[in-house]
Amino acid sequence: MNEKSAPLHPSPTLDRQREIYFKGLSGEKPAVPIDFSALEQAGKQAMSAEAYAYIAGGAGLEATMASNRASFDRWQIVPRMLNDVSDRDTTVKLFDRTLPSPFLLSPIGVLEMAHKEADQAVANAAAAENIPMIFSNQASRPMEQVAETMGDAARWFQLYWSKSDELVGSLVSRAERCGCEAIVVTLDTTVLGWRTRDLDLAYLPFLRGKGIAQYTSDPVFLESLKKATGGGDTAKPKITLDTLKTLKEVAQSWPGPTLDGLRSGKAMAAVQEFIAVYSKPSLTWDDLKMLREHTSLPILLKGIQHPDDARMAVDYGMDGIVVSNHGGRQVDGAIGSFDALPAVTEAVAGRIPVLMDSGIRGGADIFKALALGATAVCLGRPWVYGLAVAGEQGVREVIANLKTDFELTMALSGCRSISEITPDALRRL
Ligand code: FNR
Ligand code: LAC
Repeated sequence: MNEKSAPLHPSPTLDRQREIYFKGLSGEKPAVPIDFSALEQAGKQAMSAEAYAYIAGGAGLEATMASNRASFDRWQIVPRMLNDVSDRDTTVKLFDRTLPSPFLLSPIGVLEMAHKEADQAVANAAAAENIPMIFSNQASRPMEQVAETMGDAARWFQLYWSKSDELVGSLVSRAERCGCEAIVVTLDTTVLGWRTRDLDLAYLPFLRGKGIAQYTSDPVFLESLKKATGGGDTAKPKITLDTLKTLKEVAQSWPGPTLDGLRSGKAMAAVQEFIAVYSKPSLTWDDLKMLREHTSLPILLKGIQHPDDARMAVDYGMDGIVVSNHGGRQVDGAIGSFDALPAVTEAVAGRIPVLMDSGIRGGADIFKALALGATAVCLGRPWVYGLAVAGEQGVREVIANLKTDFELTMALSGCRSISEITPDALRRL
């Protein structure tokens, strides 16, 4: 008999499956549902109608969200047998880190709508599970506050390119100082999409002071408040009881004392200034040069769907791509993100890492993305629902479940490591 070598990777993730079944012997069921539809329903129960609409919703008829799922369904795994999959290695190298599983957490804004501990709960969970967190530009907590608690756990920063280059520079410098290891520039949200569910509820969190903590903690932004004209929005609401409630909500989001925020008008001015500077629809490829000069951190472009844009990203010296359609929240009737992946990986031809998100719900989706050339994927809504249901523990459980689901899919398909997951493992319907 062959001498048995020590496992490459001891697979602690499989303990998760055992743990669930053993707890079941004493009648205990997982508090955070495993099945995605059940998880989404549990998340819905735990949130306000406005929060759920904002998180679950997409643009227009939500056809892009449907395409995100349909694109995965069009490809099927063809498992191989008798391949000795007793030793499995799910690790993947990305820039200077080795990740335990091939995924990161997508940047998600306004997490206070899902849970009061918001970004902090997610950071704790990500650090405990050793999965990188991408801080959102629209976070509910300033990046410094969250990073301070993370030790050397991996975090990146997602940037929305605002109208003020000075603000862009300031946000990126802050990200560098608080230990972020890459900058993800999201390109697909130069304006917000036509989000039917939010429009029907006439609810946009930013107007209520939510999701602007990276701004109200930024020295450049605060300086600009002093000279702000508040010229962002001309539509003035009627003064009703609801308007007064909103004013209170906005003042409470102000980082200083609520009363100060209210009396001084700073809290309201911050919202208006945010609306005025939030994005720069005139952004072009040449603007990226400034960022390239400003930071030595790896820069990834998020929102790429077309292979020509992927080629341009490489030409412009970018370090990575996130193939994404923002979870179908921006352009309705667009290509499924997984459908966009093969042409992008072909165009990039291994020169820089290609990540992808939008529609990943299970281990099989991660496996398929890797088979068609993704280096790793990003997870979005599933962990937000976990957060809504059970805070930090909820996010941890969703991450742990996906780690295990992925490892099992890999092993049962006959692959021992990520490098063995190739296009041969799939067939297209
Ligand atoms: C997002 N997304 C996002 N992207 C980004 O670059 N910055 C952000 O602040 C946000 N905010 C955000 C809020 C909410 C509620 C959602 C659902 C999504 C997009 C996110 O990073 C990712 O691309 C999608 O979530 C992927 O789609 P699925 O897998 O969640 O459907
Ligand atoms: C969104 C923004 C925050 O998708 O990216 O709502």
